[in-house]
Amino acid sequence: MSAIPTLAIRGGTKRFGAVHALDDVSLQVNAGEVLALLGDNGAGKSTLIKCLSGVHRLDTGTIEIDGVPIVMSSPKIARSAGVETVYQDLALFDNLDTTSNFFAGREEAVPSWLPLGMRWLKNKGMTAHSTELVGRLKINIPPKASSVGMLSGGQRQAIAVARTAAFASKVVILDEPTAALGLRESRQVLDLILRMRDEGSAVIVISHAMDHVMEIADRAIVMRRGRVVGEEIPTPENRTRLVSLIVGGDD
Ligand SMILES: Nc1ncnc2c1ncn2[C@@H]1O[C@H](COP(=O)(O)OP(=O)(O)OP(=O)(O)O)[C@@H](O)[C@H]1O
Ligand SMILES: [Mg+2]
Repeated sequence: MSAIPTLAIRGGTKRFGAVHALDDVSLQVNAGEVLALLGDNGAGKSTLIKCLSGVHRLDTGTIEIDGVPIVMSSPKIARSAGVETVYQDLALFDNLDTTSNFFAGREEAVPSWLPLGMRWLKNKGMTAHSTELVGRLKINIPPKASSVGMLSGGQRQAIAVARTAAFASKVVILDEPTAALGLRESRQVLDLILRMRDEGSAVIVISHAMDHVMEIADRAIVMRRGRVVGEEIPTPENRTRLVSLIVGGDD
């Protein structure tokens, strides 16, 4: 693990009117690490990742990428800094096919692993390209399925995660990526997360599924009422402690 975290937030606060959604939040995540973000409904998890990904602006506090301060003033800025996010409400277009979903909003983008000399791919072979990406990420979907609206929830979720995996360079943030998925679909998404970690991304995963957290996370941070209230390595021995931090019986 390097001394400088890939992504860090220090003293982050965010209010919505009277609601203190984030209250002096500090955390960091390193390359090749999966950090789980836990907490009950309304704890501030989604708000935190929206601040990290440029959807919301922090009221106060700083965000650093590789030790360099950055103002996350828009999702575009976050994306160009290498922060890719899959939001809780998935942003796939039902009426478009898999290929179009892969490239939606990124028609200009060239994945970091694709040599510049292969830019022609983006115009000439988007279908071939997305087939290659899907193959590379080992997702079991017919790449030419007529529209994403006809795919199952798990396949859709896998596409959303794969789309992120394909373009992410540094940081991947996933807000409840396995919520409402069956066993097989969850497995697929969990494997993708581990793959991204193994390829060197710093990964933040929000999840209420303790079994998934125990399986994939290297570290777990618990939020309650906008604050970070604890951090544990998610081992079976620490499970009870994590659950009590989440429900907060001590206040
Ligand atoms: N855009 C917004 N405007 C006003 N209040 C908001 C907004 N977004 C979030 N909040 C409030 O901030 C608090 C934290 O919400 P947030 O969505 O971050 O919780 P969460 O931890 O993601 O919960 P869940 O597990 O239910 O997804 C809640 O009280 C919520 O009502
Ligand atoms: Mg949320």
